[in-house]
Amino acid sequence: MASVAFFFVGFLVFAGEVIAMQRDLDGLGEMVMDEDELLGLFEVMSSLLEDPDWADVHPQPCTDTPWPGVECEIGEDLSIFHVTKIHLGPDVIIPTCKVSANLSDSLLKLTYLKTLSIFNCFVSSPVALSPTLFGALSSLEHLALQSNPALIGEIPPSLAEISGLRVLSLSQNNLQGNIPKELGGLVNLVQLDLSYNNLSGKIPEEIGGLKGLSILDLSWNSIEGQVPCSLGMLQLLQKIDLSYNRLVGSIPPAIGKLNRLVLLDLSHNSIQGPIPETLSGLKQLQDLTVDHNPINSKIPLFLGTLKNLTSISFSGCGLTGPVPNFFSSLNNLTALSLDNNNLSGRVPPYLGSLPLLDQLNLSHNQLNGELQFPEEFIERLGKRLDVKGNENLCTSNKQYLKKNISMYLEIPPCSGTKEKGNNKTFQEYPDDSSWYHGKISSNTAAAQWLNQKKLIVSSTSVFCWLSFVLL
Ligand SMILES: *[C@@H]1O[C@H](CO)[C@@H](O)[C@H](O)[C@H]1NC(C)=O
Ligand SMILES: *[C@@H]1O[C@H](CO)[C@@H](O)[C@H](O)[C@H]1NC(C)=O
Ligand SMILES: *[C@@H]1O[C@H](CO)[C@@H](O)[C@H](O)[C@H]1NC(C)=O
Ligand SMILES: *[C@@H]1O[C@H](CO)[C@@H](O)[C@H](O)[C@H]1NC(C)=O
Ligand SMILES: *[C@@H]1O[C@H](CO)[C@@H](O)[C@H](O)[C@H]1NC(C)=O
Ligand SMILES: *[C@@H]1O[C@H](CO)[C@@H](O)[C@H](O)[C@H]1NC(C)=O
Ligand SMILES: *[C@@H]1O[C@H](CO)[C@@H](O)[C@H](O)[C@H]1NC(C)=O
Ligand SMILES: *[C@@H]1O[C@H](CO)[C@@H](O)[C@H](O)[C@H]1NC(C)=O
Repeated sequence: MASVAFFFVGFLVFAGEVIAMQRDLDGLGEMVMDEDELLGLFEVMSSLLEDPDWADVHPQPCTDTPWPGVECEIGEDLSIFHVTKIHLGPDVIIPTCKVSANLSDSLLKLTYLKTLSIFNCFVSSPVALSPTLFGALSSLEHLALQSNPALIGEIPPSLAEISGLRVLSLSQNNLQGNIPKELGGLVNLVQLDLSYNNLSGKIPEEIGGLKGLSILDLSWNSIEGQVPCSLGMLQLLQKIDLSYNRLVGSIPPAIGKLNRLVLLDLSHNSIQGPIPETLSGLKQLQDLTVDHNPINSKIPLFLGTLKNLTSISFSGCGLTGPVPNFFSSLNNLTALSLDNNNLSGRVPPYLGSLPLLDQLNLSHNQLNGELQFPEEFIERLGKRLDVKGNENLCTSNKQYLKKNISMYLEIPPCSGTKEKGNNKTFQEYPDDSSWYHGKISSNTAAAQWLNQKKLIVSSTSVFCWLSFVLL
């Protein structure tokens, strides 16, 4: 009797489900998936995931049996679901990628796919980006294949055929070869991140075609050649990170046209100075990092006009001359690194009254004379103040908070030290701002020609300069 009752209840539940499904179908029409597309999804998932039962457990991934890494949207005719997003990442960890994970050609069956993002999946058996795979994925807007150490080979030029692409992130893989010049055709691209690979060759001049680009990150590769002046055409750029490459030549003056730029990082390259004065056009710039380049010139005075600067870093740039006065007008400055240069003269006392300054590295220069920072400042910065390694720099040997400042800062006390410092530090730049404004007020092409003339060292620079004037 009991078993009959159980059967009966079971039947009721089953019938209830059928009715519920029927109601759904009545309400929204026949909501099914294209069979080819569904099979394509199963094949893609089985080429990626460890779980051989994924298709059995998720027979209707858009409706009844969803999976967190797959998203669908209802098609325009409201009768059919399409797979629009596949995402495998730290937030979708079960099941994990299989050892032999690969990108299946069946991706081509997912013609409505807008987002493909795969993190930390190809880790042991090598996978390459097949040239036939991406050109045809015409709906793709967001392609992010990141942190896949076994993703090798070159970036296929056919990626440029995905004309609607907005985000292309291939960061932290093991890609090599050149950046294909065809990528310059991706006019809708907002973000290009190829950082942390083993890319070589030059940055193609065609990159100037990426009119919508806001973020460019090519850092940590082996990219050579000059910074292309066509970058100056990308008016929407907010962040440029070209650090840790093998770039040479000077900074193209046209970069100064990027009046939305907030971050510029050129550190750890072989870029020469002087830094073009046109960079005074970077009115929004907050973060300027030039560390470890052979700039070998004085600190550029126009920096004093970029009032939004919060962080300036010129560590190991072969800078010479004094620390100029203009830093006193950069009230938003929180970090200043001028260490490991050849700066001489006094340490300007006003640095100690910059209201937000929280990190100051002047170590390993030829600064001299008496360090005159308020004790509150020395206390506030603690170990984030670094002035050691300046042979002739000394401090009045005061004590505060039971600390010996001389010992604390690792510079000798002034008493008994022979001051060898020259006393004409501030006379070299009698009035920073007037010197600077005088120069830009004659803002004619001829004056600019004279100002820029010293930068013209090769035909490429001439082209860069011309493109700056003409654009
Ligand atoms: C990955 O798939 C491509 C075709 O999609 C194939 O040529 C290649 O051999 C596969 N690699 C592995 C490691 O299975
Ligand atoms: C980078 O690529 C070069 C060849 O272009 C190769 O010799 C080198 O070993 C690669 N480096 C890494 C870390 O893969
Ligand atoms: C700093 O940036 C703001 C917007 O973030 C801008 O309005 C302002 O003009 C900039 N400051 C200067 C001195 O150009
Ligand atoms: C710089 O400081 C001023 C006030 O001194 C503030 O209005 C402005 O927003 C700051 N700019 C940035 C980029 O923080
Ligand atoms: C720094 O200047 C001194 C002389 O003041 C010079 O001997 C030395 O070569 C310079 N070092 C660099 C890295 O320019
Ligand atoms: C200052 O720069 C030197 C290298 O020039 C570095 O060794 C030191 O750690 C830096 N100090 C701080 C406080 O960051
Ligand atoms: C502070 O330390 C320095 C060594 O750096 C020493 O010469 C000096 O006598 C000390 N001063 C006091 C007051 O302890
Ligand atoms: C340095 O020059 C200033 C005036 O420019 C003068 O008042 C001061 O005594 C000089 N200091 C030394 C040590 O020569």
